[in-house]
Amino acid sequence: MTERSDATDVLVVGSGIAGCSAALAAARAGADVVLITKAERPDGASTDWAQGGISTTRGDPESLKADVLEASDGTADPEAVDVLVENADDAVEDVLVDTLGIDFDETDEGGFDYAREAAHSEHRILHVDAATGTHILRPFLNYVDDHQRIEVRQDVAALELLTHEGRVHGVLTDEEPTGRPVFAGATVLATGGVGALYSRSTNPDDATGDGIAMAALAGADVADLEYVQFHPTAYDPGQSDRGVDGGDDTFLLSEALRGEGAVLRNADGEAFATDYHPRGDLAPRDVVARAVAAERERTGGVVLDVGPIEFASEFPSLAETCRDHGVDGDQIPVAPCEHFLCGGIDVDEEGRTSLDRLYAVGECARTGVHGANRLASTSLLEGLVWGLRAGEDAATNGAEPERVEAPALSNRDPELPERFAAEKFVRLQRTMDEYLGLRRDPDEIARASAVLRRLKGEVDAYVRTRTARDLYELRNASVTALLIARAASENRESIGCHYLVDESTDAEPKPPAATDP
Ligand code: SIN
Repeated sequence: MTERSDATDVLVVGSGIAGCSAALAAARAGADVVLITKAERPDGASTDWAQGGISTTRGDPESLKADVLEASDGTADPEAVDVLVENADDAVEDVLVDTLGIDFDETDEGGFDYAREAAHSEHRILHVDAATGTHILRPFLNYVDDHQRIEVRQDVAALELLTHEGRVHGVLTDEEPTGRPVFAGATVLATGGVGALYSRSTNPDDATGDGIAMAALAGADVADLEYVQFHPTAYDPGQSDRGVDGGDDTFLLSEALRGEGAVLRNADGEAFATDYHPRGDLAPRDVVARAVAAERERTGGVVLDVGPIEFASEFPSLAETCRDHGVDGDQIPVAPCEHFLCGGIDVDEEGRTSLDRLYAVGECARTGVHGANRLASTSLLEGLVWGLRAGEDAATNGAEPERVEAPALSNRDPELPERFAAEKFVRLQRTMDEYLGLRRDPDEIARASAVLRRLKGEVDAYVRTRTARDLYELRNASVTALLIARAASENRESIGCHYLVDESTDAEPKPPAATDP
């Protein structure tokens, strides 16, 4: 493939596990592929931050299916879950074990050391320490970068989808000269989630909802955007507002810790989780996250007690991260934190969106697998399975790239104050934290929508005058935030991650009376 060609068979936008899988499958099917990523380093992709692992079925797809459906409160799409579980083991073995040679942890006796996490009924999760994402992504990126049919372009952001007569023909990028197009027979969005819309997230700052916003602005269907998942145990440094760079001083404490026997305790030292759900510390994530928030409010704090497990030897990378943050001892302060978007661009079983020649995979896509609440360690798996399916479909059913007319971008106002994007991001994050977080009040969602609409209007006015990556990220974040608010306001059913506080009954998640001491 010619260097920096302006056209390719398949264009992939994003460099996490879903984007790499799509690129790999498309190349294997004989397509020439360009993969663009705005990240400059692997840790710009959320995959690199994934800790717990990747679920397999361990030979029992029905059991994994049952757990996925139960964690979702019966809202996941059973047919999509079938696609996930029926393809899981082959995809893991083919790509991760045979092609990339990932050295998943093994037991002393030999054989994989399968872990268990919340709401899993079995030990079936492959992992490398609690840094599984890094150990998968870095070899994967090297592999696709070395592939003769794949050209990886780093530090290149997609600004707009190129559309003509209802079809998608590639993207406009911010590669010099800004506004440079990449035309493609098929375009696969793998741009990740929305962590940057909240002040505290387990995602990198790059997670600005780019794919969702670009697809929605081009007219693609989106779904389930109200289901923003909060992880129950992110390190809590004791501050709540860290502005745009929030997230730098928080980090995830994997559910694998509770899978091994770590225990949540409130400020009175009580293990409280079974008061909220019979499965206690291993209850579905949405339940545990709300229980942690309620106990923090009730008693003043919650810690994850890692005393019962071999923390330093079993989870060396996390133990080191704790030491780096000055946390010594067994009691690690935790708070819920934005973690994963269960909804996204609506796609079918091959990752096809409602727009011709546009695919979406990974966190930016809504496959139906997660419903209202995702089961742990299914996000890497979903990215892998749908990435492979979409990549292959895009290569076999994609068209010849067409050079359509690209919209003109503007640079009328190069003197845009640098502070503009940063200030607007802080306002956006405050609104999302306050009104579209773990617990939501329907009246306040309406207020949030009004604030977000105003903010989007202000941002749009600037985007029309100057082309810059941070402005486009802000535009994408404000579009996606507004879509989340709209989905939340339209859904009056309190379920999974969309938990509505009923002011009239003061329906906070409270321990059932029967279990009170
Ligand atoms: C974790 O390690 O707790 C996160 C795993 C996941 O989100 O799937």
